[in-house]
Amino acid sequence: MLEKIQQLLAEVNTLEAHSAEELEALRIKYLSKKGSISALMNDFRSVPAEQKKEVGIKINELKTRAFDKINSLRAEFAQTDTDDNDIDITRTAYPTPLGTRHPLTIVRNEIVDIFSRLGFSLAEGPEVEDDWHVFGSMNFADDHPARDMQDTFFIEARPDVILRTHTSSVQSRVMETTQPPIRIICPGRVYRNEAISARAHCFFHQVEGLYVDREVSFTDLKQVLLLFAREMFGEETQIRLRPSYFPFTEPSAEMDISCNICGGTGCTFCKHTGWVEILGCGMVDPAVLQLNGIDPTKYKGYAFGMGVERIANLKYQVKDLRMFSENDMRFLREFEAAN
Ligand code: DAH
Repeated sequence: MLEKIQQLLAEVNTLEAHSAEELEALRIKYLSKKGSISALMNDFRSVPAEQKKEVGIKINELKTRAFDKINSLRAEFAQTDTDDNDIDITRTAYPTPLGTRHPLTIVRNEIVDIFSRLGFSLAEGPEVEDDWHVFGSMNFADDHPARDMQDTFFIEARPDVILRTHTSSVQSRVMETTQPPIRIICPGRVYRNEAISARAHCFFHQVEGLYVDREVSFTDLKQVLLLFAREMFGEETQIRLRPSYFPFTEPSAEMDISCNICGGTGCTFCKHTGWVEILGCGMVDPAVLQLNGIDPTKYKGYAFGMGVERIANLKYQVKDLRMFSENDMRFLREFEAAN
């Protein structure tokens, strides 16, 4: 009996199979009910009582070894044998529905991309900000109306903690830790306490730009903005700068582009003027440089800020601002082609 076990063990150790059929035949030969190992179990009854323990252990060892061997041969087949499974690798794939980018993401990426090519790098700051970064460091007087409760969301328990009302706060975040040259583009969400309507929302998106270096002029600003407008809205686009006021720039301007919906001939979007305002800009007020730890006798800068929704409206003529935040799939799917 022991000899027979020994012989079977030697056989099992050298088993080989070259196809799934051969492997199945081996399994039947050794491990099925009528297989040779099962036959040993039958013979086991006639083994004398004093040998039963030793023989029992050996039979179990043989059985385990046979199982392991057949399983390991099967694993080899699973890796190498593609003949007998029915995967057709030439079949065309099932179409997988892809999501689409949100129109505001598409437009923001496009803006950031244009300025990246001009050497601007990306900077971001927190949406929950303090009064200093949103207003103080940007040269807002203590009694400036923008600090008014009507514009700013305050956090009740911490009156100095607010939701940022513009991305200009990121200018300060960067200037306080970095010495010039600084050339950054800062996209982000901003919040204002406004009644929600087709034309206003309590949150929207801006992109801020800042360039600080030794020699920076208003001409540089104008040229960069002209290039941006033409990249964004087409080669024919004209720009015009109107004098304006912001606490953080001096001189300040607002920039219009020739209406890209009517091509400048006049339509309801441009209120028949042929021009639409797209951003605010100016030379960084020396007081702002000073407040943020940059020497205004050595450095100058320009800055600009634009609303992403406004640019998206011009590109896609979305009539109601609320569409951007309602997640209506019928609206969002319209931008599949723009992705
Ligand atoms: N922060 C301004 C706003 O929210 C936009 C702006 C205007 C940003 C002029 C600037 C700038 O950097 O120079 O209306």
